[in-house]
Amino acid sequence: MPLEWSGLSPELLLTIDRGSAEGLRAQLERQIRDAVRTGRLEVGERLPSSRELAARLGLSRGLVQDCYAQLRSEGYLATRVGAATTVAAGACPSPAPVPPPPAPPRLLADFRSGVPDLSSFPLADWLWATREAGRAMAVTDLDYGDPRGAPALREVLAGYLRRVRAAAADPQRLVVCSGYAQGFALTLRALAATGVRVLAYEDPGSPGPTRAAAARAGMTAVPVPVDEHGIDVAALAATGAGAVLVTPAHQWPTGVVMTADRRLALAEWAERTGGYVIEDDYDAEFRYDREPVGALQGLAADRVVAIGTVSKSLAPALRIGWLLCPPALVGLVVTGKHLDDRGSPTLDQLALARLLECGRYDRHLRRMRALYAARRAALVDALARHAPELRLTGLAAGFHAVLHLRTAEERHVVRQALTRRVGLYGMSANRTTGRADPPRLVLGFGNVTERAVPEGIAAVADLLR
Ligand SMILES: Cc1ncc(COP(=O)(O)O)c(C=O)c1O
Repeated sequence: MPLEWSGLSPELLLTIDRGSAEGLRAQLERQIRDAVRTGRLEVGERLPSSRELAARLGLSRGLVQDCYAQLRSEGYLATRVGAATTVAAGACPSPAPVPPPPAPPRLLADFRSGVPDLSSFPLADWLWATREAGRAMAVTDLDYGDPRGAPALREVLAGYLRRVRAAAADPQRLVVCSGYAQGFALTLRALAATGVRVLAYEDPGSPGPTRAAAARAGMTAVPVPVDEHGIDVAALAATGAGAVLVTPAHQWPTGVVMTADRRLALAEWAERTGGYVIEDDYDAEFRYDREPVGALQGLAADRVVAIGTVSKSLAPALRIGWLLCPPALVGLVVTGKHLDDRGSPTLDQLALARLLECGRYDRHLRRMRALYAARRAALVDALARHAPELRLTGLAAGFHAVLHLRTAEERHVVRQALTRRVGLYGMSANRTTGRADPPRLVLGFGNVTERAVPEGIAAVADLLR
């Protein structure tokens, strides 16, 4: 797309070599021709005025005007009376049109999990908070800051995490990062530096990204089974792992809420072995039947790294997350963050701080909890109507649940559902072995409207049974 400039004339890198045997005008013409031919200048793009370019290159204005006239006569440039000189239409060979990628089918209902209701993002509140933050910001806030993040956000966030997640949150040990993804990578690098070589992870879980991140940190990743109480701590102990990644509040993807016994056993494992627990606290804000269970980090702050994110509560595109670090790891994590990117964008952090401290974040969560609860109820109802014999589990929190298929083959159901414009996702993708047995569907209802839920389930009902 050609750049449109208003007011000042555009910058254009052209150089004149006064020691060259080639004349000044010839040099200028050649460079502009080349810029058009190679696409550096696009059709419709404005050139500097002859006066401006002459002054910039130390040439006479007449020479530049002659050059422009020559290129106009060759069809490279165009001038309309009273308007700037631009690159003429058809001056450069237009690249062969690239066929657009086939549009994905418009789905009746897409039960992809992990996505919140994007249309409910509180844009007006976010813009308000950004403006407020910008207004209150000191000039020095625009400098490189503390790589842990803006002190104002760390202070407010620590208070929020103490209040809502019962976390042992100290702003000094809180590091703001770019979502869970960066938080996890930073944690693994810090752990690797302390000598951890084996990372255990929940199975089912996110084997692909977890194993890839572990490999980048020079670690081996080993799967540990999850049962209806949470991760199997005895099996974890048998792996000899130095760290384990868990999702205690709402296991991803089974939806199991880790029981109190398991939490204690896990904390005890970490104390006894000197191991670390990485707690992915990704969707804990959304608990329906009772208050959310507190973060595991509150039980064993010296041995747990808790990672939070706004990807579920606000939107993934914000790329804001945080780490609550044990004292022994905070220095390594901060060094890693400093090396990675010097710190997360300050204005966004200050906006989030404002949203938290003025209560609009809590208000948004309350609204979203009601919305997801209605979608969850619609899913339960639709399945009770169309496939009452199938069990649905993992519904206590978050915005996904697990449907236990009985006779239907998982991959067949997923494939056939797509031909009926319904997005379904099998749990095989979450298993380290990739096996589709026992057959399960992970049904996300965060970004499916309350009306689309029953429509989608009705469209695939016969496949599920
Ligand atoms: C298990 C789990 N944790 C955390 C996240 C959030 O990641 P991020 O904060 O990098 O967007 C996701 C995103 O889908 C997830 O599935």
